[in-house]
Amino acid sequence: MSEPVVTPGHVGAPVRRQGPPGLGTLKDLSRPGRRASSFPPLDVPEADLPAEQLRRSAADLPQVAERDLVSHFTRLSQLNYGVDTGLYPLGSCSMKYNPKIAETVAALPGFARIHPLQPDHTVQGALELIWRLERALCAITGMARATLQPPAGACGELTGLLIMRRHHTKQGDPRTRVVIPDSAHGTNPASVRLAGYEALHVPSDDRGLIDLSALERLVDGSVAGLMLTNPNTLGLFEEDIERITDVVHGVGGLVYYDGANLNAILGRCRPGDMGFDIVHINTHKTFATPHGGGGPGAGPVGVTEALVPYLPVPVVERDEATGAFRVEDDRPDSIGRMHGFLGNFGILVRAYAYVFLHGRDGLKEVAERAVLNANYLASLLADAFPLAYPDGRPMHEFVATAKPLKDRTGIRAMDVAKRVIDLGFHPSTVYFPLVVEEAMMVEPTETETKESLDAFAAAMLQAAREAETDPDLLHQAPVTTPVRRLDDAHAARHLKLRW
Ligand SMILES: Cc1ncc(COP(=O)(O)O)c(C=O)c1O
Repeated sequence: MSEPVVTPGHVGAPVRRQGPPGLGTLKDLSRPGRRASSFPPLDVPEADLPAEQLRRSAADLPQVAERDLVSHFTRLSQLNYGVDTGLYPLGSCSMKYNPKIAETVAALPGFARIHPLQPDHTVQGALELIWRLERALCAITGMARATLQPPAGACGELTGLLIMRRHHTKQGDPRTRVVIPDSAHGTNPASVRLAGYEALHVPSDDRGLIDLSALERLVDGSVAGLMLTNPNTLGLFEEDIERITDVVHGVGGLVYYDGANLNAILGRCRPGDMGFDIVHINTHKTFATPHGGGGPGAGPVGVTEALVPYLPVPVVERDEATGAFRVEDDRPDSIGRMHGFLGNFGILVRAYAYVFLHGRDGLKEVAERAVLNANYLASLLADAFPLAYPDGRPMHEFVATAKPLKDRTGIRAMDVAKRVIDLGFHPSTVYFPLVVEEAMMVEPTETETKESLDAFAAAMLQAAREAETDPDLLHQAPVTTPVRRLDDAHAARHLKLRW
């Protein structure tokens, strides 16, 4: 097998540690009597604890010196690749740099040290922030009111579908089916099932857009609604969106906007104006709050005026006469609670900071740069990895395909992705959307500079060249990481959920 080739000058950060290799877990480093901390001398009288509260044997804790402790955790932190380290072009997931000012704001004691059970009059500032953020999100999406409770986009989907369900039930017309495109993200059909509906797939046409005539044939009085992202999961703007929403409204259905791609259209157009009735926002994709490894996050849901009574409780209201804010729980038609209290408040503070830091013009620029960056990168990669739908212009992300490379060399999208890790970058999403063979879904986001995009493209093109000249290297990749290629099928089939 060839030696790994790492081109100097790449902007990405290889997943590689500095210093000597680790010697195992903290338990492995443990030696009797070593201590990483010392307590100050006792300055209060010693007291005996009740016998029944004493341990019967000493706690089995690792005994390590401070030096070992710091090296251990620093070494572990260096094995990680994150949005602070370099480009993270995971299409559909919008992994973008989170400005540190949002962290500073969220850590202000007035936000960080309050308790959700405090009386309303002692937390007026926090309630005002929630109220203002709700107004801002409604202005951005074109919705009447919103709930900030759901802790992630997927929970936003369930919230929206339960609202859809409540709407139809109230009309005395409970329906059974929800339409989703064949390119939909996996959470869409899962949420449809969780909400008690059957998922109906509408195909994409040869432009990668919803096949309008298929949709017209599919919908009838059993359809509760349609779920759609726009730009869709192929990164393409649904040109017929007004016609699509009309068709669904025509049979009495509602249209749900999956906001995973809202970052592409911020300040340019609004789901409400396209005819959507319910919208979720992934604050971690659109407003750069941390992903936090699956949570805690926020997936606010906005609705049109007609659906406001069904929003989850509690809601924050402002007394017009006094300007005071209060939390209201009493809404007879509400679908109920989707999360404790008012949601993940710390994340909402960060989203607020991002929205108001940018303002109206800044958010528009976020979308414009995201689209510009994706198109620039797509053009750099086009010879080796052509667009799956070359006739459409991608928005903030694009789906390329490694199929021509695979046909020529046997090297697959997964091999390229693994090799790109050696070359210092987090790879793009691969094999999603499922409708594209050897899909590579790339989303550079607006936070990357031209230099960083150039460097990522250089790594991808290097991998494509190596596929022709040294395919074995790509089959083996990654070759520079502490953990080599994992058997992901094994990991999925033999779950180890306990350690
Ligand atoms: C199109 C789409 N919809 C929904 C989701 C789910 O969002 P979350 O990860 O916030 O639950 C994602 C996540 O990547 C997505 O890409």
